[in-house]
Amino acid sequence: MTATLVDTYGRVHRDLRVSLTDRCSLRCTYCMPPDFADWIPGDHLLSTDELMTVLELAVAHGITGIRLTGGEPLLRPDIVEIVRRIAQLPQPPTIALTTNGLKLAQLAQPLADAGLTRVNVSLDTLNPERFKKLTYRDRHHDVLAGIEAAKAAKLLPVKVNAVLMRGINDDEAIPLLRYALEHDWNLRFIEQMPLDASGSWQKSDMVTAQEIFDMLSAEFVLTAVPTRGSAPAEEFAVEGYQATVGIIASVSKPFCAACDRLRLTADGQLRNCLFAQDETDLRNTLRNPDIGDVERMQRIADLFQSSVRAKLPGHGINDPLFIQPARPMSAIGG
Ligand code: 5AD
Ligand code: SF4
Repeated sequence: MTATLVDTYGRVHRDLRVSLTDRCSLRCTYCMPPDFADWIPGDHLLSTDELMTVLELAVAHGITGIRLTGGEPLLRPDIVEIVRRIAQLPQPPTIALTTNGLKLAQLAQPLADAGLTRVNVSLDTLNPERFKKLTYRDRHHDVLAGIEAAKAAKLLPVKVNAVLMRGINDDEAIPLLRYALEHDWNLRFIEQMPLDASGSWQKSDMVTAQEIFDMLSAEFVLTAVPTRGSAPAEEFAVEGYQATVGIIASVSKPFCAACDRLRLTADGQLRNCLFAQDETDLRNTLRNPDIGDVERMQRIADLFQSSVRAKLPGHGINDPLFIQPARPMSAIGG
C-alpha cells in the first residue's frame, strides 16, 4: 500500500460508501416526499468504468471496505457486474450493500456469487398496511422475501435497519426485535437524522437511543457488548438468544471521533461526511479529455487527500447553527 487517507485529527479512512443511483423504488417519509422530482440528471451519473477508476484508486489508498448504497442500489441495471468488478480489484475490499430489499429475492444469490460480502436491509415495520403508509408502496411482502433470500444466499449475518418515528411506528420496538430474534436477523435501530428532502426533521420528535433501550428493556435483558473500532452501532446481547441488537445513536451520542468513512455520490462527488456542506467534484477530472490516465489518477488521488484533509471533527447536528445538507439522503448515500 502506497498511501493512506488520514485526516487532520488522525482518523484513518478505510470505508467508502458509494451511492450507485439516487433513484428509489420506495418513498420512505423520512427520506423522500412521494412526489420527489429533483433527480440527478442522467448524464451526471458516473458510468461503471468511471466508478471503477475511483474505486481502484480508493482501494490503493487504504480503503478496505466498500458499501454500495443509493437511493436503491439494486436499481442499477449492472449491479451484479459492479460487485464482480470490485471483487476482482487488487487487494479486494469487503463489499457490503444497503438495500430496501425489494429486488433481493431475485438478486441475493447472483450478488453472493459475484462476491458480495453482506447486506443491510431497511425495514421499519412488521405491518404491511403501515409499510404502505410509510413508503407509499404496497411491497412489505417483497422485503420479507428479500431478507429470506439473503439468508439463503448466506449473506450473513443479515442486518436489518429500522428507524423508529414518534407516534408512527415507535410501538414496534419490541415486536421488531422479537421477530428479528426468531428469524436470525441482526436488527439495528437507527436514530432518525436530519436528512429528509423536505427538511421537516425536528430533534424533539426523534426517538432517542436511550428511549429505544428503555422500551426494549421492558421485555428483554440487554447487556452491552464491547464494539469494535469504528462501528457506529452500540451492540447489546439479548439474554436467551444468540443474536445481538444494535442501537445507533447517530444524533444523541455521535461517533464522529472514530469515523473512518468517506462517501461518493452517484454523480461523482466525494463527501467527507453525511452532513458536510461541501463536496469535492471528481466527475470533471474523470471526464477531462485533455489529460492522460496517469495524470487523471494523480489528480483524483490529490482530490481524495484534500477532501479528507478538510474533514471536520464532527457532524454538528446538536449545534444551534447546524444546517442540513442541501441534498437528501437518497442523493448522498446512506
Ligand atoms: N435517518 C436515519 N436513517 C435513515 N435512513 C434513511 N434516511 C434516514 C434518516 N433520515 C436509513 C434507511 C436505511 C439506511 C440507508 O439509512 O432506513 O436503512
Ligand atoms: Fe428509498 Fe432508502 Fe430513501 Fe426509503 S430511505 S426512500 S428505501 S432511499
